[in-house]
Amino acid sequence: GRAFRIGLLGHGTVGGALAELLPSRADHIAAITGIRPEITGVHTRSNGTTAAEVIAGADLVAELIGGLEPARTYVLEAMAAGKHVVTANKQLLAHHGEELWAAAREHGVQLRFEAAVAGVVPVIRVLQESLSGAHIDRVTGIVNGTTNFILTRMAETGATYADALQEAQQLGYAEADPTDDVNGKDAAAKMAILARLAFDTPVHITDVAYEGIEHLTGDDMAYAKDLDLGLKLIGTAERVEGGIAVRVHPAFLYRGHPLASVNGPYNAVTVESEAITEITMSGPGAGGPQTASAVMGDIISAMIPPASTPETTQSLAVVKDVESAFYVH
Ligand code: HSE
Repeated sequence: GRAFRIGLLGHGTVGGALAELLPSRADHIAAITGIRPEITGVHTRSNGTTAAEVIAGADLVAELIGGLEPARTYVLEAMAAGKHVVTANKQLLAHHGEELWAAAREHGVQLRFEAAVAGVVPVIRVLQESLSGAHIDRVTGIVNGTTNFILTRMAETGATYADALQEAQQLGYAEADPTDDVNGKDAAAKMAILARLAFDTPVHITDVAYEGIEHLTGDDMAYAKDLDLGLKLIGTAERVEGGIAVRVHPAFLYRGHPLASVNGPYNAVTVESEAITEITMSGPGAGGPQTASAVMGDIISAMIPPASTPETTQSLAVVKDVESAFYVH
């Protein structure tokens, strides 16, 4: 039968990883959805294929260019043409989310963005689905992998800020221009998106007060160590007198705090609500393969009706005599 045609806009860290990952999972996806996903077009700044051509030939467009324009225009064009869109673009949603969600509703298409916040950690789904009925009081998170990696390296190995940043760039965690990582703007965009979902109210990036890690010194690190505290870039979105408040800044955390032991490029998001107490989700928040995996999950969700019954597509043996582990590390 016909394939499910995916048009790729952008072929950088995430786009490139998706182009590798998707074919390797295509058989499995075909088995669970009944239709085989195939990348039918790729647009980059220099490959000669226009975005319009890629959009025209696709059932779903994955926007992995980043930045505001031309990403916004392409996403609007794709939705107007009746195509589903999956994006990892946090700045786009934090600036133009309301316009884009309105366009998705108008054209009856899906706009999915799990990869825009905390990489492969499924925080968007949880806020949109699992907790959609909850009265949420507060969302707290470590939502930038680059800065968490830098702070972890500085605290654990005494690496310099500059060396740790360079390593984060080499590992594919940082933005093309890492300025937004270290100054808190990347985390601010992600907190705007989380606040939007948690409180069902429009939140623009200009509503978020943010401060980054560029001004942290060795003294700050030493102070945290002396007092046995974690030092993290923390995002908070919470109900306050008169509305909600959203902010990002470095903060000290006591050792037992659920976010204190989140290290390296990992992200974590804690959601608090009186009825559920709190839940914390954590895992890789940056990195090509990890973020591509979140994009792939969104693509599959767009292909199948939600909450479909799981198909049995494999018949693996269930092994019964595996030794128990008494020490869980
Ligand atoms: N530069 C981002 C980070 C990538 O370090 O978290 C994931 O959005």
